[in-house]
Amino acid sequence: MSDSSHRPRRLRRNILIRDMVHETDLHLSNLVQPYFLAADKNAKEPISGFSAVYRWGINLLLEKVETDLKNGLKNILLFGAASPNEKNEAGSTAYEEKGLLPTAIRTLKEHFSESVILLSDVCLCPYTSHGHCGLVEGNEIENDSSLVALGQMALVHARSGVDLVAPSDMMDFRVGYIRDLLDEHGFDQTSIMAYTAKYSSSYYGPFREALGSAPQGTDRATYQMDFRNRTEALRELELDISEGADMVMVKPALAYLDIIKAFKERSSVPVAAYSVSAEYQMVKLMAAQGLVDEKKMAIENLTAIRRAGADILITYFAEFIAAGGWLK
Ligand code: PBG
Ligand code: ZN
Repeated sequence: MSDSSHRPRRLRRNILIRDMVHETDLHLSNLVQPYFLAADKNAKEPISGFSAVYRWGINLLLEKVETDLKNGLKNILLFGAASPNEKNEAGSTAYEEKGLLPTAIRTLKEHFSESVILLSDVCLCPYTSHGHCGLVEGNEIENDSSLVALGQMALVHARSGVDLVAPSDMMDFRVGYIRDLLDEHGFDQTSIMAYTAKYSSSYYGPFREALGSAPQGTDRATYQMDFRNRTEALRELELDISEGADMVMVKPALAYLDIIKAFKERSSVPVAAYSVSAEYQMVKLMAAQGLVDEKKMAIENLTAIRRAGADILITYFAEFIAAGGWLK
C-alpha cells in the first residue's frame, strides 16, 4: 500500500463530514452553573478579578435561574457567604437553618421544584474566621471534629430540599460520615457529589476573592491534594466510592486531564470535573485583550475536559453557553 492511500484529511473536507465523524459532544444537561450568594436580597455585587461573575441577592438569583431554565440549563451549584462579623472559629453560621444558603435552597425549590437540580457547597471556609475548610486546633486542621460541623451543614441543606450536597473540604471520611447522617435522618434520596481529588492549587484565586475565604497562616496543603500526585487520587477515588459517593469530582480540570481520564476508566459512578475560577478568568482576560475568541476557547477547553472522560462539567461559562446558544 502506498503511503498516499492513507489520507486522513478526506474526513475533514467539509463541515458535514467533520460533523459526521466527530467524537465528543457537550450538552447543557451535563453542565453545572455555580452561583455565589449575597445577603442583600437585591444585590448584584461585582467581584474584582472575576469578570461577569457576581454575588447575587435572592431576588435577582430567582430571575437568573428562571432565565437559565428557559435557556435549557437546569443544574445550579450554590455557594453561601458570611460577612466578616458572622465568621467565627467554629464556622457555626455554616449550619444555621436561616443562613443564606439554606434560605436560597428553600426559595429556589419553592419556585422551581423539580424543574431545577440544586447542588450545595458543603464547606466551612466561608464561615470560619481563619478561612480554613475545617476546624483549627492549635496548628492543626482537626479532621474528626470538622466532620461534625460538616455533617450538620449537609443536614441543613438536605432539610432545605437540596438535590445533591457537594462537600469540598477534603477531610478524610466525610463522605461516609455525611451519608450515614443523611440516611439516619431519612434523607436517603439526597445525593453526594464528592470533591474526590481536589488539588491544592493556584487556580482558585478569583473564587477566594468571591467568598473572602483565603486561609490565614498555613495554606490548604495538609488537606487538599499535592499536584505532583496521581496514585493518591486513585486511593481517594476508592475511598469515596466505598463510602457511598454518588458522583466523584476532579478539580481543577484543565491541568488535570490525566486524573479525569484515570477516574473515568476506574469509576463506577459518574465523574464530574470542576473547571475552576482561574481557568475561566484566563480565557476572559485573554479575550478582553483580543488575543483569543472567548466562545471558541471556552468550548474547546470544555470539550477537552469531556474528551478526557468527564461526564459532568462545572463551569462559570454554563450560563453564557446556555444564553448565547453556543452549543447550537
Ligand atoms: C473551598 C472551595 C474552593 C473552590 C470551591 N470550593 C477554593 C479553595 O479550596 O480555596 C474553588 C472554586 C473555583 O476556584 O472556582 N472549599
Ligand atoms: Zn473550603
